[in-house]
Amino acid sequence: MLFSKIGVIPLLGLSWLSSAQILNVDSRSNAHSKRQQDIVTWDDKSLMINGERLMIFSAEFHPFRLPVPSLWLDVLQKIKALGYTCVSFYVDWHLLEGKQGEFRADGIFDLQPLFDAAKEAGLYLIARPGPYINAEVSGGGYPGWVQRVQGRLRTNDAAYLEATANYSANIGRIIAENQITKGGPVILYQPENEYQSFVKGYNAPDYEYWENVKKQFEDAGIVVPSINNEAHMNGYITTSTPANVDIYGHDSYPVGFDCTRPDIWPTPLATDWLAKNNKLAPDSPYALLEFQGGGFQPPGGKGFEACAILTNHEFERVVYKNNYAVGATIFNIYMTFGGTNWGNLGHAEGYTSYDYGSPITEERLVWREKYSEMKLQANFFHVSPAYLVADRFNSSLDWTNNPAITVTPGMTKTTKFYISRHTQYNSTQTVAYKLKVKTAKYGELSVPQMSDSLSLTRRDSKIHLSDYPVGDHNLVYSTAEVFTWKKYGDKTVLVVYGGPNEVHELAVEGHTPSQCELLSGSGVKIESKGGYVVANWAVTSERKVVRIGTLTVYMLNRNEAYNFYVPPVAKQIGLSEVIVKAGYLIRTVEVSSKSLNFVGDLNSTTTLEVIGGAPSSLKMLKFNGKSLKFKQDKNGVVTAKVAFAAPKMQVPKLGKLKWKKIDTLPELSSSYSDAAWTRADLKKTYNIAHPLRTPTSLYGGDYGYHTRTLIFRGEFTANSQEKDFSIYTQGGMAFGSTVWLNDEFVGSYLGGSTWESYNYTSKYTLPSRLENGKRYTFTVVVDNMGLDGNYVIPEDRQKRPRGIIDYDLSGHTKSDISWKLTGNLGGENYLDKVRGPLNEGGLWVERHGYHLPAPPTKDWANSRGPTEGIEKPGITFYSTSFDLDLPKGYDIPLSFTFANSTAAGTKAYRAQLFVNGYQFGTVVSNIGPQTRFPVPQGILDFNGKNYVGVSVWALEKGGAKVEGLELEVGMMTATSFDKIKNAPVPKWELRKGAY
Ligand code: GAL
Repeated sequence: MLFSKIGVIPLLGLSWLSSAQILNVDSRSNAHSKRQQDIVTWDDKSLMINGERLMIFSAEFHPFRLPVPSLWLDVLQKIKALGYTCVSFYVDWHLLEGKQGEFRADGIFDLQPLFDAAKEAGLYLIARPGPYINAEVSGGGYPGWVQRVQGRLRTNDAAYLEATANYSANIGRIIAENQITKGGPVILYQPENEYQSFVKGYNAPDYEYWENVKKQFEDAGIVVPSINNEAHMNGYITTSTPANVDIYGHDSYPVGFDCTRPDIWPTPLATDWLAKNNKLAPDSPYALLEFQGGGFQPPGGKGFEACAILTNHEFERVVYKNNYAVGATIFNIYMTFGGTNWGNLGHAEGYTSYDYGSPITEERLVWREKYSEMKLQANFFHVSPAYLVADRFNSSLDWTNNPAITVTPGMTKTTKFYISRHTQYNSTQTVAYKLKVKTAKYGELSVPQMSDSLSLTRRDSKIHLSDYPVGDHNLVYSTAEVFTWKKYGDKTVLVVYGGPNEVHELAVEGHTPSQCELLSGSGVKIESKGGYVVANWAVTSERKVVRIGTLTVYMLNRNEAYNFYVPPVAKQIGLSEVIVKAGYLIRTVEVSSKSLNFVGDLNSTTTLEVIGGAPSSLKMLKFNGKSLKFKQDKNGVVTAKVAFAAPKMQVPKLGKLKWKKIDTLPELSSSYSDAAWTRADLKKTYNIAHPLRTPTSLYGGDYGYHTRTLIFRGEFTANSQEKDFSIYTQGGMAFGSTVWLNDEFVGSYLGGSTWESYNYTSKYTLPSRLENGKRYTFTVVVDNMGLDGNYVIPEDRQKRPRGIIDYDLSGHTKSDISWKLTGNLGGENYLDKVRGPLNEGGLWVERHGYHLPAPPTKDWANSRGPTEGIEKPGITFYSTSFDLDLPKGYDIPLSFTFANSTAAGTKAYRAQLFVNGYQFGTVVSNIGPQTRFPVPQGILDFNGKNYVGVSVWALEKGGAKVEGLELEVGMMTATSFDKIKNAPVPKWELRKGAY
């Protein structure tokens, strides 16, 4: 069926790729292909694109976590600048089908800008459409209405599969249209996600289910190979199981998610993965479809800088190099840019920031050392094609003279890689060792030959080499690591690096010391070993450059190497021929016969030094299109200075602005009418996982309310027996709730960051005696922190309700109280189609759209803003606007920063921040940790008016006070990236029927 639909595949529609840039070391003779496409094929070693082997060095990026599509290219270029070849992305179904049957992927949810940006940046894509994705998003990607599905989730139950059909058909079609077979960037797709955690006794894996998930996507036209992402390598779905994938893959987060003690790397490091892979899927390349690039954080956690330390450059060196030792040739780093859980898209166990401690920060900055380290690693694979075909061997102690060092060899008939690490992988000791290398001509050598030993300092790992071709030269061995090399006519430039104080040696075949010349630096010893020369040096801050025949070797210390780039040419998977030392970021280079134009960003005045690839008599050197004065020496090396000056600019002081405020809990007033509210009259819940404990359902999900604030009103006639009111509300980890009786405060649940705090019954004594026969109203506000993920099958945790689970009013039966509820206006018929189904919750201001730009605040009270303080428990909304006129040509990170209020004695509040109508922050003052909320350009109009709204919910007697709120400027860079288009910001309009 499927085959006949596909027809002839246009093999040549790939003008944006230069196949010349792709590594080619093998023919496609043993390659597998599937489903009548032969563009993406594979064997047990690697993936091949058009028959050419490629290291899939991939970055996880979630476009939906950056709601300014014009910025996606910025992130992708920063990924590409590292030398990556691929990006992997999830799709969040929740955002695309908020109302069942209405799939919307337009505006900021349109994926086309991602496909276009990938082509522009020169990156392939791995599509991961779920439907279940996990990903720390609300419901693990399931829309809220999935709580009502009459079947078990992630199973073959017909009701579940039917629920996914519309989404899978639509997203499948969009992905299919952008596959490589149609000239697009998508080369692989992953159905499902981590299908391997099952409740005991559940008959798993369900092969029929798996085939059905795949079939939905394949029916939509997806023909590129499928790949699995299993956790734990159980081998439930492999290439040879009855239901299968084309390529087996798994994920791993080896140091876990405890960022509170970032120095602790739990032991041990897995070393048996390849052996397992060879058993499970001997015919597919070793794929790590998700590998730890940072960590997520629970409420009350330590913040993402701590996760960046846990998974820092040392982690990348030790743990990623172990992956190379094991032979990973499909390697995706989760996350490489995390982004923001704006607009309530996150799950309950997180908070607004999803920075993740990734190489690229939430503000899209690339200053973390772990970013630069990845550039060193990814570039190596562009010039080391033998890696992709090397046979792997077990780690052992046989390759060194010191059992504290373990080496894993990878070998081809010629080139050999020796990946060394501490035997106790997380050791922080400095360990000296000698390495045994094998060479074709000179047998086994013990290196270094001219010094006593090599060393591993602290947490580190090295890729040593032997018989490694560099242009026309053969490195007999190198203990220093290779960043890159390029051959220019009869000359070759090689760049190697080492850590501070390390001794290294590099041996080149066929030369004598008389052919060697020290071009720069000192302290390089050269010796002849009969047939080859050895250069030996100790790494210092001073660069050493040695010419060995026609080979020029740059011996750098690692900190200097961090500043080197092999910039890409736009639209190409490969990199250019240019090697340049620069500063903060080089995005691309344009090379012509007489000129060079670098496109990049600066954070300080920078010297450019082109050590390879400049035209021999350069006429013009440009940086971001501007001509620079430059010098070119006799070796062709070009130097120039690019000036940077921070812009002179100002941002408003939020405390000095004029604010307006309004009480956003009019529900407490006796004159408030809830006539238009939803009656909570369902005697049976649609939620098959959670039977009711109350006479009618008080689950938000039963009535279509899935996002943020839920408000309940319960009316009853008093009999003067009332004394206590117990209530079990549920809103996910770190949620809170407050109860009022008429306009009197009854009590609040302040929440916590443990699982115990999740299920909690509050017992309140009523504030006063009630009058017999009089009608009273409870108002209950519940903060929904997002729906739970659905990891274990079929636990159906996504269905954990939000709202009121149970209650008891003394002197009454439960049915004495009749309830109504509301969430966001319209529920699943949400009004703001531009900002999506989750952006607004059920506060009165949100129902009226007053969080949107230009609300009608004329009659609201004047205010100094959220720092003014609220005297009693309640919710107030503050609104203001300001103009920005920020200089063009700069990337200016702005964040809204609340003063830290977790100190004892400070009263608890929950705040929401809206910027131009986009919800960009939720503060839980008593739990934290987040107080600083970056908002990107494009949500903020840098050259126009901006509207800010802040809701403050005081939970305790005596009210609460936001101690401070500022607009902060982060690290500014001069940027070439000028393609930012503001996200659409529809303004406030009267909402008919709003209540
Ligand atoms: C993986 C999962 C991802 C994400 C990650 C942790 O197990 O596949 O979706 O949840 O863990 O950040």
